[in-house]
Amino acid sequence: MVKDRVCVTGAGGFLASWVVKLLLSKDYAVHGTVRQPGDEKYAHLNKLEKASENLELFKADLLDYDSLYSAIEGCDGVFHVASPVPSTTVSNPEACLSICIPYTVKLALVEVIEPAVKGTLNVLKACLEAKIKRVVVVSAGAAVAFNPRWPKDQIKDETCWSDKEYCKTTKNWYFLSKTEAESEALEFAKSTGLGVITVCPTLILGPILQPTINASSSFLIKILKEGCASLENRNLMIVDIRDVADALILAYEKPEAEGRYICTAHQIKLRDVVDKLRSLYPNYHYPKSFTVGEEGMLSSEKLQKLGDEKYAHLNKLDKASENLKVFKAELLDYESLYSAIEDCSGVFHVASPVPLTSVPNPEASVCPYCGINFVNLALLASGSMPL
Ligand SMILES: NC(=O)c1ccc[n+]([C@@H]2O[C@H](COP(=O)([O-])OP(=O)(O)OC[C@H]3O[C@@H](n4cnc5c(N)ncnc54)[C@H](OP(=O)(O)O)[C@@H]3O)[C@@H](O)[C@H]2O)c1
Repeated sequence: MVKDRVCVTGAGGFLASWVVKLLLSKDYAVHGTVRQPGDEKYAHLNKLEKASENLELFKADLLDYDSLYSAIEGCDGVFHVASPVPSTTVSNPEACLSICIPYTVKLALVEVIEPAVKGTLNVLKACLEAKIKRVVVVSAGAAVAFNPRWPKDQIKDETCWSDKEYCKTTKNWYFLSKTEAESEALEFAKSTGLGVITVCPTLILGPILQPTINASSSFLIKILKEGCASLENRNLMIVDIRDVADALILAYEKPEAEGRYICTAHQIKLRDVVDKLRSLYPNYHYPKSFTVGEEGMLSSEKLQKLGDEKYAHLNKLDKASENLKVFKAELLDYESLYSAIEDCSGVFHVASPVPLTSVPNPEASVCPYCGINFVNLALLASGSMPL
């Protein structure tokens, strides 16, 4: 039996192919959108396990609303992954355009910004019309990190947004496209009530399922081939493609997910990446010198908390899938409590802080009122201490 029916936009891409693979392995039925059905570049999708039963490909373009609606109609959820990802440079693998491709503003608008921003709105409008329960929109660290006003010594979290004006003046069109698309998506969610979660992965690396090379993977090839004399030793925030696919499905499956989530894992200096490559493949022309690079760091703490398995047992309870709805609420946050309580006939108020005693510290485990030693009690109960 299939779990949910979900649509994945841009199914043949680097990240979306992994999302489709993972969804199929979890018994989801998947509608994948592609621009040129029948093209060899999507052949890997039909070879995925369970693809013959549960994967259907639809021809759709981000700028063609009707084509998107046909793919999304009848689904429970949508993973909006498709967006133009232009070629990267070695010096700034998450950004570029301005150096490797001489984009004019007009070209950047037509080829990058419009499909990203208008395309995202088209997807969301189709989701609203098709009564989709939850949409997970793939944004990027590029929509978080490019903010010159953020304090240099402060780790960037979900409250940090890339500065759109700064993106424009520095001609970082990809950064601009992702920032604009994500902020519009969250605005759309606010004004319509559509359930939208955004996930912002940093530089994604890992095994490639599709037959063509994508921009972020080509970054490693460029280090090997370009033979730059000098590079800026910037801080790279890297995340494994399989972890990103996991994170997207986590954001879809967790009812308490809300807003945006940074998805990152490893911090590494570009110089250390080069040293690693040199130790593995010594016969290439590597950069000989490095200039001081940016230090900025991003935090994935919010996503890690979402993945915390602390509450996983609740969803496994008998009849939970039909009758249990989990709300994020804090006792000191009236609105959050009200949202959970509204429409209920009664309330069982159980939550209250119960400080944990530290078991290895026997003094802390002695009840201050009655003198019972909880450690001894636990040992007696387990039979490891003689009565
Ligand atoms: N890779 C990274 O390091 C990284 C980091 C952060 C965020 N992201 C985000 O992750 C998502 C996927 O990126 P990726 O690395 O997997 O890149 P990718 O392999 O180039 O995939 C991009 C996908 O978008 C589709 N697409 C582009 N323009 C389209 C249009 N007008 N209509 C329909 N589909 C269109 C492409 O379809 P075709 O196959 O038909 O060309 C392709 O499948 C993007 O939203 C990107 O911004 C990537």
